[in-house]
Amino acid sequence: MSEGAAKKEERRKFQAIKGTRDLLPPETALWNRVEQTAHEVFATYGYGEIRTPIFEQTELFARAVGGETDIVSKEMYSFEDYGTDEIPELLEQRTVLLTWQVPPLGTQVFEPFIIHSLNFCKLAASTFNARQIPGSPENQRALQDISAMVEKLKIVYSQGAEESAPVVAQIKERVREVKLGDELSLRPEATASVCRAYVEHGMQQLPQPVKLYCIGPMFRRERPQKGRYRQFHQIDAEVLEVVRREASEHDWEKEVRKDAAIDAEVIEMLMTFFAKLELAGTTLYIHSIGHNGPDCRRAYIGKLYNELLKIKGKLGADSQRRIATNPLRVLDSKLESEQSYIEKLPHMADYLCPSCAAHYASLKRELDLRGVKYDENWRLVRGLDYYMRTTFEITAKGLGSQNAVCGGGRYDGLVELLGGPPTKGIGFAIGEDRLILSLLESGKAPAQQGRDVYIAWMGERANATAIRAAKDLRKAGFSVELPPVEQKFGKALGQADKLGAKYALILGDNEVSSGDWTLKTLADGSQAKFKERDLLEHLRKQRALSS
Ligand code: HAM
Repeated sequence: MSEGAAKKEERRKFQAIKGTRDLLPPETALWNRVEQTAHEVFATYGYGEIRTPIFEQTELFARAVGGETDIVSKEMYSFEDYGTDEIPELLEQRTVLLTWQVPPLGTQVFEPFIIHSLNFCKLAASTFNARQIPGSPENQRALQDISAMVEKLKIVYSQGAEESAPVVAQIKERVREVKLGDELSLRPEATASVCRAYVEHGMQQLPQPVKLYCIGPMFRRERPQKGRYRQFHQIDAEVLEVVRREASEHDWEKEVRKDAAIDAEVIEMLMTFFAKLELAGTTLYIHSIGHNGPDCRRAYIGKLYNELLKIKGKLGADSQRRIATNPLRVLDSKLESEQSYIEKLPHMADYLCPSCAAHYASLKRELDLRGVKYDENWRLVRGLDYYMRTTFEITAKGLGSQNAVCGGGRYDGLVELLGGPPTKGIGFAIGEDRLILSLLESGKAPAQQGRDVYIAWMGERANATAIRAAKDLRKAGFSVELPPVEQKFGKALGQADKLGAKYALILGDNEVSSGDWTLKTLADGSQAKFKERDLLEHLRKQRALSS
C-alpha cells in the first residue's frame, strides 16, 4: 500500500454496518415511551417479561421457523462457535493441513501430510469425547472419510504428485467440513427462544397459561429499505399452555372456544397497546390457515397446487418457483400482473375441518364481543412454518410497502417439535422500528429534551454554590446544565437558550453574599430573586402548573 493510500485508510471513517443504524435522541425518548407503554399495558393482562440470549443454536430456529423459509435458508447470521484456547492442537493441525502445498512434481514427500492427517483424526476423536467439539454424525462421518482417504494416499503417494494431488485436495475439503464448534445464529425472531425457555425452565409446572413478553433486537439479512433493517427490534408476546390431557370427543368444542378466547384476548391487548400509543390508521387482518391434517390444510394445499399449475404460465418466476416449494406463499405475491389470477384461487376457509372452522367462528365472535374491529384476509399467509389456525397481521399508516407493523398467530405443537411436552401457543411480534416510523410520520415526534435550569455562575465562591444547587435540583428531578468552567453571563445565557433551558439561575459573588439568587425565565426574560430554600419550592410549583 502506498503511503498516501495508507494515510487515507487511517483516516477512513467507520460507519454503521449496512442494514443497522444508530437510534439517537430525541427519537430514543419515543422508543422508551413505546416500551414503557408495553410494560404497562402487558402487565394489566398478566404478562411477565422474559429476556432471552440474542444467539441460540441454529438448529432451534431451523426446526421452529422451518428450514425452507426465507428466514432460515437465506437470512440468518450464523457462525461456528469455538474457543481457540480449548482446542489449540487441533486448530494447529487443521491449519497445517489446510495450508499444505502439494510438492513439485517428481518429489515424494507426502509422509508429513499423512502424519498430520492421522493426528488430526486422532485429536478430533478425543475432543469429541471431551465434548469440546460436536460429536455429531456429520463430524463422525467426515473423520471416517478422512481416514479412508489417508489410507488411499498411503498407496498412491509413491506414484508421485500427479496421482496424489487430487486425494490431498479431497482430504483438505473434508478437514474444512469438520465443525469445530456448535453452529449458532443471531436470533431472527423470539418465539423459538421463548418456547425453548418455557421447556428449559419447567414453566409447564406453573399455573397455565404462561404469558410472557420480550423486547429486543432481532437479525435478518434482508435487503435494507425503509422499514426493513438487518438489525431490527421486536416487542414480542407469547401465551403458552401445556396440554394436560387430549380434548376428548365430548369436550373439543369447549376447548376450541377456550383457545379462541385466548387468541382474541391476545389481539385485544395488542390493539389496546396501539390505541394507547395513538397509532394512526391501523387495520387488523385475520385469517385461519387450519391445521396440518389431510382433512384440512393439506387438502387445501393439494387443491391450490392443482389450480396454480393451471395458471403457471401467467405467473412470474418467483411464484412459479413457489408452486413447487410452498404454494401458500404464492398468495402473498404483490406482483401486479398476477393479481387477477390469484384473486380467483380457492379459499382456505372453504377447506377448514369442523374443529378449525369452529375455532375460527369462535375467534370472530370473541373479537366482536371485545369490540375489536377486523378485516378477514384470505390471502394472509405468514412467512414462518409454525402457524396453525389463527394468523393475523396489523398494518399502519405511513410505512410504504413495508406496512406490516405486527404479525402473529397460533402455533400449537411447536413446543413439542422442540422436544417439549404437547403445548398450545399463540403470540405476536410488533416491529418496533416500523411502529416508531409510523408514529413519527403521524407527527408524534418527541421534542428535543431541553434543560429545566441552566446555572450561569462566575467566581470561586459561586462555583461551590452552583455545584450544591445543581445537586439539589437534580435530586428533586429537574434537569440541570452546570457549565464546568465559569462563563461571562452574556455567553452563559446564550448557551442556555441554545439548549432550550426554561430558566437560567444566575450565581455571581453578589448573589452568594446576599443569599438572593436570581432566576431568569428565558421565555419572557423576566427575573425574580429567591432565597435558596424558596427556589426549589417555586420551581416545583411551576412544574406542577405546567404538567
Ligand atoms: P414476523 O412477521 O416475521 O413474525 O415479524 C413480526 C414483525 O416484525 C413484522 O410484522 C415487522 O413489523 C417486523 N419485522 C420483521 N422483519 C423486519 C425487518 N427486517 N426490519 C424491520 N422490521 C421487521 C415473527 O417474527 C413471529 N415470531 C411473530 C410471532 C410471535 N408469532 C407468534 N408469536
